[in-house]
Amino acid sequence: MTKTDTAPVNASVESPQAGLAEGSGNVVDISAAHRDSNLDEILDELDRELVGLKPVKAYIRQIASLLLVARLREKVGLDTERPTLHMCFTGHPGTGKTTVAMRMAKILQHLGYLRRGHLVIATRDDLVGQYVGHTAPKTKEILKKAMGGVLFIDEAYYLYRPENERDYGQEAIEMLLQVMENQREDLVVVLAGYQERMNTFFQYNPGFRSRIAHHISFPDYTLEELTAIAELMLQQQNYLFDDGARRAFGEYLELRRKQPHFANARSVRNAIDRIKLRQANRLVEEGGCVAKEQLLRISESDVRRSRVFKGGLEMELEEAAACSESEERRGGAS
Ligand SMILES: Nc1ncnc2c1ncn2[C@@H]1O[C@H](COP(=O)(O)OP(=O)(O)OP(=O)(O)O)[C@@H](O)[C@H]1O
Ligand SMILES: [Mg+2]
Repeated sequence: MTKTDTAPVNASVESPQAGLAEGSGNVVDISAAHRDSNLDEILDELDRELVGLKPVKAYIRQIASLLLVARLREKVGLDTERPTLHMCFTGHPGTGKTTVAMRMAKILQHLGYLRRGHLVIATRDDLVGQYVGHTAPKTKEILKKAMGGVLFIDEAYYLYRPENERDYGQEAIEMLLQVMENQREDLVVVLAGYQERMNTFFQYNPGFRSRIAHHISFPDYTLEELTAIAELMLQQQNYLFDDGARRAFGEYLELRRKQPHFANARSVRNAIDRIKLRQANRLVEEGGCVAKEQLLRISESDVRRSRVFKGGLEMELEEAAACSESEERRGGAS
């Protein structure tokens, strides 16, 4: 399935003369252009709403500066070739790749680089058909949907299957390469996936490597960052840990991290969903009148009743196992 996130279309900030110092055609006021762009506000929001990811945030700041300067250069008549912004995001599951791509799309729209600033997420199944003649229309449709925004290709390496001589993935690859070159003014392509597999993919598909200027790697979160992510998610949903719950959650994370299929911030989100269920269950069992404070508060027992403390696996693991079993039955993940 393809998911589309549509950003508001009114975010562009530019006034035609922003940043141009009055009375001179050769001087530009970078500070004024910076101020007028509201860039700091957007980047501060990114800082507040995403925990950690320091190198990623630093990179986004650099790209934003590059675009700001490119616009000023254009104004004083210097070269106008737009920077190429196709990117590659590598990292383990749940490290924030999709979330950052969504933010990036909005920032690029805000800076006037993209018309629409929406994100279209596609995987191999969205681009590649099963039969001859099916791939081109599928890929074309996705490209059309993504124009003016960001096309995010998750686990992009599945497009390339050298073991199958007549794999239709190659057809999709060629179309993508062409559009990345010819329509780079109107589309940013982000390839995402595991670092090692992506390296191999680039090795066999040098056309992609040469079209992608920015490689951003997403590190695993530390325990402190995972805890901060949990607190942030709770706060956004009007919940909070009491001291015991916070301690217990730290212990939970240490155990959960050692289990298979740990997916960084996504596992935190899932854990919180289950904690909320247990809190609700506890409150209903206790009955009587409850104060607002009790509805807000997650207590230690809501965390400790997780099966992870009893040496069990989390539900999401069982789901993942069921999923990979069914993939095996279908003849491999795609
Ligand atoms: N730094 C962060 N701060 C707060 N929340 C985060 C952060 N990173 C990720 N999340 C949250 O964790 C969840 C998973 O993130 P996301 O889907 O972006 O990961 P991903 O790297 O795309 O994973 P996958 O490789 O499995 O697709 C989302 O709900 C997201 O909001
Ligand atoms: Mg993702």
